[in-house]
Amino acid sequence: MTDSPAPLVAVIVVAAGSGTRLGHELPKAFVPLSGRTLLERSLDSVFGMRDASQVIVVAPEDRLDEARAIATERAGAAGGYLDVVPGGNSRQASVERGLAVLRPDVDTVLVHDAARALTPSTLCDAVVAAVRASGAGVVPGLDLVDSIKRVDPRGTVLAGVDRRELSAVQTPQGFPRRMLVAAFAAATEELTDDAALVTAAGFPVSIIPGDPLAFKITTPWDLRRAELLLATPADPAGSPRVGTGLDVHAFDDTSELWLAGLHWPGERGLAGHSDGDAAVHAICDALLAAAGLGDVGGVFGTADAALADAHGEVFLRETLRRVGDAGFRVGNVSVQVIGNRPRLAPRRAESEARLSSILGAPVSVSATTTDGLGFTGRGEGIAAIATALLVPAEARGPVLSWEA
Ligand code: CTP
Ligand code: MG
Repeated sequence: MTDSPAPLVAVIVVAAGSGTRLGHELPKAFVPLSGRTLLERSLDSVFGMRDASQVIVVAPEDRLDEARAIATERAGAAGGYLDVVPGGNSRQASVERGLAVLRPDVDTVLVHDAARALTPSTLCDAVVAAVRASGAGVVPGLDLVDSIKRVDPRGTVLAGVDRRELSAVQTPQGFPRRMLVAAFAAATEELTDDAALVTAAGFPVSIIPGDPLAFKITTPWDLRRAELLLATPADPAGSPRVGTGLDVHAFDDTSELWLAGLHWPGERGLAGHSDGDAAVHAICDALLAAAGLGDVGGVFGTADAALADAHGEVFLRETLRRVGDAGFRVGNVSVQVIGNRPRLAPRRAESEARLSSILGAPVSVSATTTDGLGFTGRGEGIAAIATALLVPAEARGPVLSWEA
């Protein structure tokens, strides 16, 4: 991480718990949630803040290296200071370990549970802004929706509690540094959150609106809920999806021209690792994008020797296979070639028939020039732009059927 100007906001991310109630074999912060750990996801919220100048990750003692590697990777180009310290036996002890490494010029401290993995960065920003505006402690809280009862240990209801007086508080909780440090120094008992300590020390704390996404992942059900919130499945009963793709190749006089699935004898060829068929590559990009599968560069790469000089059909068939695996079939595709040459019109029908037969769906091919402007106008190369529509593969029949 880089040296940056005076840090003012520190965020302590407590991630040292074991996650007893989650019951996973890994400590909770290292449990995967739709492909990324809770720690990665909660750090993404923190590094997405407008200003978080020092980020302190409090991690299990035996996973400090792993936590450091994750935090460094997620920090990316965010800048600021990063510290990773071992946690204690309770959340409160873990926060205290984080407080011990605050940089001298920090004036506002946020404490955040790594377990609140889906917290939006904007909630963190709102807490910082409210601490700055009020000069006091700030916690995000949600109104309760259920009726609340006070019960005795046997489960007998003693009385109702007016829920309008209650708030379900979340993290990040933010404080002027001196209040939080003083509250921890004065703490005589173990409390469940930082606001409780700060309040017990006699400092003011106020509530700002929380966010349902900042819920704490505590039980397996919470983890499932988070997975469902993140899911973008190729739902067979779902909607059609569009994708766009663009590709450009420079002319290369030493190559034969392959374009829009056809060989063009006598025309200038295109440079590229494969046959340089910009129209087909744009179609593949559009199909992959519509299916949420990335792009041609990521899927095929340029290092694959098997694809050297490969014709467009190879790319189209593999793309079609992947799109099918993701639960889609092609609705239609439109591709436009941009360049002075070759003149496409005479072979448009041939190209459309060829590409349509490979994809098993209508492909429209069109062409345009750019009025002499730009690299296509100067005759340096060819561009192609494609749009693809995917539809969910055949929906299955009814779940229940009556058979005679
Ligand atoms: N935490 C921590 N150090 C501890 C205990 C908790 O840093 N000794 C962190 C957890 O990693 C979590 C946050 O505090 O991000 C909130 O705690 P909680 O949800 O209770 O997590 P766990 O203590 O890990 O879970 P459990 O209570 O089910 O064991
Ligand atoms: Mg706990």
